[in-house]
Amino acid sequence: TYIVNDACIACKYTDCVEVCPVDCFYEGENMLVIHPDECIDCGVCEPECPADAIRPDTEPDMEKWVEFNRKYSELWPVIITKKDPLPDAEERDGEEGKLEKYFS
Ligand code: SF4
Ligand code: F3S
Repeated sequence: TYIVNDACIACKYTDCVEVCPVDCFYEGENMLVIHPDECIDCGVCEPECPADAIRPDTEPDMEKWVEFNRKYSELWPVIITKKDPLPDAEERDGEEGKLEKYFS
């Protein structure tokens, strides 16, 4: 599976949702997640994210993000259409520690 990590937080560009063939992105207040059981591992969303927030779970130490994505994809509504990024997206892009600072 692929997952969304904290680089998405406070940016939420949503370019990713336009390309997903199985509509497995779910939307929270300030980030998206991927449902790990619905993702078919096609990889097309990864290069679409301007914040580089989408990663394959084959990278090291990804268990935490897989569980995070699973948890919130079961709580949040699906998103299938691109929308405007969050207002501070460019400022927050690349900032460290976004999970602690902005996640809600
Ligand atoms: Fe959707 Fe493919 Fe990205 Fe998985 S890897 S979230 S199926 S676009
Ligand atoms: Fe987030 Fe990147 Fe999609 S910032 S909303 S994962 S395009």
